[in-house]
Amino acid sequence: MKILNFGSCNIDYVYLMDHIVAAGETEATQSLNIFPGGKGLNQSIAMARAGESVYHAGCIGDGGEFLLEILENDKVDTSLIERVDCQNGHAIIQVSKEGENSIFLYPGSNRMISCSQVDKALGFFSKDDILLIQNEINNIDYIVKKAHERGMRIILNPSPCNSEIGRIDLGMISYLILNRLEVREITGCDTVSDALLYFREKFPKLKVMLTLGNSGCVYQDEKEQIFFPTFKVEAVDTTGAGDTFTGYFIAGIARGTDVEKTLRTASAAAAISVTREGAATSIPRMDEVLKRIDSLAVNQADSNSLD
Ligand code: RIB
Repeated sequence: MKILNFGSCNIDYVYLMDHIVAAGETEATQSLNIFPGGKGLNQSIAMARAGESVYHAGCIGDGGEFLLEILENDKVDTSLIERVDCQNGHAIIQVSKEGENSIFLYPGSNRMISCSQVDKALGFFSKDDILLIQNEINNIDYIVKKAHERGMRIILNPSPCNSEIGRIDLGMISYLILNRLEVREITGCDTVSDALLYFREKFPKLKVMLTLGNSGCVYQDEKEQIFFPTFKVEAVDTTGAGDTFTGYFIAGIARGTDVEKTLRTASAAAAISVTREGAATSIPRMDEVLKRIDSLAVNQADSNSLD
């Protein structure tokens, strides 16, 4: 079984702010750091640091060459990444002193994926291999359709959520990993229980992994629903915490680890990541997660609201 992640590679410009600027406001930043990022790259690195072999497919543009090195340092296979003649995708990220973030993206190279690149990349994969995909690249509906034709197990992280997601037939998806905002957008529901019921009724075979920020996460499949709380940590920068969770969750699925144990490990990895700056740079390795997991205390918050 092989894992392919077809996803973005960004340069993250991270500005530390007193608070996130509102419309019409101007604020001088306290610092600027340039980090590797992109939901695709972060999730590939998280899976690799969780111990999985990962193939990353996508495009790299001008200024993005260091991102290949970052992936290769973590032994991610980059042979399916193509070099394109335009600016690399980047993100402008404000981080407040509470560790919260606000992001806008320039897609650049991440939206240069051609159907022929997709066909070529998918040609190396077959039935039961895993395809992971997010929504920071173009042609996601084509990628999903072609991967489904090959019998691959498709894991969709519909992030960021926009009208492109509506073009994907969720009947082709095995696992949907999404957060509060995304689940509201897709289901139109205001509560966790209504959203989970929506998926159970419309897509009974779909396995849903819903992350609820500080309130923990809920997993649902045909047979069970499992809740896991978050771990208590002092947040420095929450950027990439969701990607860390996703990467560790998929590593658990790929190994066939029991879901409850997988949620605990993925939550611990995400908690550790928020104590450090940056997205990809903050992702812990499995040995660190296992060393620290028993000393982390859990938050008791458990909320049914999607607000
Ligand atoms: O999920 C975090 C990521 O979102 C950042 O690394 C940034 O590049 C944006 O894509």
